[in-house]
Amino acid sequence: MTPVVEANGARIPLLGLGTWDLRGRACARIVEQALRLGYRHIDTAEMYDNEREVGEGLRASGVPRNDVFVVTKIWPSHFAPRELLRAAKESVSKLRVQEVDLLLLHWPNPKIPLSETLGALCKAKEAGLARHIGVSNFSVALIDEATRLASEPLVCNQVELHPFIDQSKVRAACKAHGLAVVAYCPIARGNAKNSAVLARIGERHRKSAAQVSLRFLVQQQVVVIPRTSKIERLSENAAIFDFELAADEMAEIGALAHGDGRIVDYAFSGTPKWD
Ligand SMILES: NC(=O)c1ccc[n+]([C@@H]2O[C@H](COP(=O)([O-])OP(=O)(O)OC[C@H]3O[C@@H](n4cnc5c(N)ncnc54)[C@H](OP(=O)(O)O)[C@@H]3O)[C@@H](O)[C@H]2O)c1
Repeated sequence: MTPVVEANGARIPLLGLGTWDLRGRACARIVEQALRLGYRHIDTAEMYDNEREVGEGLRASGVPRNDVFVVTKIWPSHFAPRELLRAAKESVSKLRVQEVDLLLLHWPNPKIPLSETLGALCKAKEAGLARHIGVSNFSVALIDEATRLASEPLVCNQVELHPFIDQSKVRAACKAHGLAVVAYCPIARGNAKNSAVLARIGERHRKSAAQVSLRFLVQQQVVVIPRTSKIERLSENAAIFDFELAADEMAEIGALAHGDGRIVDYAFSGTPKWD
């Protein structure tokens, strides 16, 4: 069974499957296989344009709906309250579930007051569209503001996190408010395999550099959502709970973080191409 992290009433499986950029039949198949192999957490978003296929994979897997933690995200162009509720209903309907387990604000949108957006997000929860709510790509200041404004508990902040980026400030803010940290790009978009340090430590444990990158995070109770389009890598990315990194190995990996380690450099401009 996948270990979980508890945060403000939610039990979030520490390992999930990322689905950005997975489309059509290939997406449905990889979701189905991941669930058959024991994954119990799937991460999608309105913006990924694959919620239908994620839902198909979920049903094809035969894993009971209640055993899977399904996460989706609202795109910032839909943060006006009525739009947000409409978008949440559409996501739930595309996924063909009664409610998602976690509904996130995908990126901050400075053009719409956060109080209005959070009011609508809380309403989506109260209306039974989501069991839990949270945020993604929120800074320390925005986390403070959001937790003050929300009438329902926020359970996580999903941010870029891997051994090459320092997110200590945002992680401390999450901890202070009881939010789980969910790491996206947890294997640095595949770049973990190019790290000599991760590879060397991996050899010691008979694990790959990607597995060491994931282990480094889950060992700190950070949720990881690695993506792969390759069935054979699903098992590799899930085999991270049968070994432990020593304190000196954790410290050595911790020292890999550097100032320009960010991969996803994006700020919502209000005019997304696909909308
Ligand atoms: N909230 C946000 O704003 C946000 C932003 C970005 C991502 N996300 C979420 O986070 C998920 C993960 O992030 P990501 O997809 O950007 O990056 P990632 O999971 O760090 O890396 C995915 C890349 O790594 C490769 N890979 C997977 N397993 C591997 C392994 N064991 N060894 C070597 N390479 C491997 C994959 O290639 P193959 O397909 O060839 O295996 C793919 O190119 C996304 O899918 C999405 O669900 C959220």
